[in-house]
Amino acid sequence: MDKKLRIAVIGAGIGKSHIRGILFNFNTELAAICDPDVERINTVADMYAVDKSRVYTDYKEMLKRDDIDAVIVASPDPFHAEQTVACLESGRDVLCEKPFALTLEDCKKMLDAEKRTGRHIMVGQVCRYAPGFVKAKELVDSGVIGEIFYAETEYAHDYSKIPGKTVNGKVFKWREDPLRHGVLGGGCHALDLIRWIAGNPTEVTAYANKKMLTTWPTDDTTVCIMKFPNGAIGRTFVSIAVKRDYTMRSCFYGSKGTVICDNTSSHITLYRTDLEDKGQPFTTPIIINIEPESHNTKAEIEEFARLILENKPLRMTAYEGTCTVALALAAVESTKTGKAVQIGYDF
Ligand SMILES: NC(=O)c1ccc[n+]([C@@H]2O[C@H](COP(=O)([O-])OP(=O)(O)OC[C@H]3O[C@@H](n4cnc5c(N)ncnc54)[C@H](O)[C@@H]3O)[C@@H](O)[C@H]2O)c1
Repeated sequence: MDKKLRIAVIGAGIGKSHIRGILFNFNTELAAICDPDVERINTVADMYAVDKSRVYTDYKEMLKRDDIDAVIVASPDPFHAEQTVACLESGRDVLCEKPFALTLEDCKKMLDAEKRTGRHIMVGQVCRYAPGFVKAKELVDSGVIGEIFYAETEYAHDYSKIPGKTVNGKVFKWREDPLRHGVLGGGCHALDLIRWIAGNPTEVTAYANKKMLTTWPTDDTTVCIMKFPNGAIGRTFVSIAVKRDYTMRSCFYGSKGTVICDNTSSHITLYRTDLEDKGQPFTTPIIINIEPESHNTKAEIEEFARLILENKPLRMTAYEGTCTVALALAAVESTKTGKAVQIGYDF
């Protein structure tokens, strides 16, 4: 393939990982970078040898360039909708970081803009590119574990170790937004994963508490219990205050076997009953080695570029991103009302 997608990046936090992904991939090139913090964006420009003529503190100025095909919106969540819509309206395709938005209203604004402009949005639910989860999905889809009857996923992190960023001298604690419940902000990873592998739950009941990050506006720990259309059930545990290392341990229990996986180990474990007639008891673990890569932005960007350049439909779409936000918001509602909440996916 000769043509490369010329991508600009807004936001220089996790955006640095996107910059590396763009520079590394064969089908992308870095067109420009932007962050309102003058010192940070200049440091990042030096770090990746970005010409100063391609460095911006105002994304609207950056969008005036005529050599940008697509934009990665990696700014804090409250800016996703405004910036994504502006990029689409300027004729660019967008890869927007997760969570797609903090409200369904903002998701709908982006869905509408996508339809209106004919451009594309991909949502950065990067777990869909973590090799351990990709392999688990492949095994489930191949039918090797049969029909899933129970699934569990988790997102466990310690946000007390993530300080607010300073933007031009002012501390900006955007993760402590009252709309950014843990189950949406970080938990969207685990909820997206359960949807991706086990399907869309129809109902969720959730319980939450705040015994760790006591000064935060939202609960820090949530457990979601879900029903799926085929009678399967599932559970997602989310905490943004755990005292352990970061990993997303997940299990998919099927009628013919089980997959145990996460995003940080160098293997996943499979149990299967169909080898019993060959003398292998189903209790024998089958270890499948994988390359641990919890934030596989390189693969995510490669697919984004490939599908845009080849004019193919993106897989992690704005609709998919919206479904995950809807599930997270239904869980938040349940923590408040104490009732089960039905989830619709009609957007
Ligand atoms: N996919 C993942 O696993 C993953 C991991 C981390 C963060 N994220 C998401 O990426 C986004 C950014 O998170 P982060 O960890 O980089 O945060 P961060 O606080 O580390 O960095 C945010 C950056 O955005 C800049 N910024 C502030 N206001 C801005 C604005 N109006 N426009 C553009 N940039 C602005 C800040 O100066 C800072 O450089 C969030 O939506 C977050 O949920 C995703």
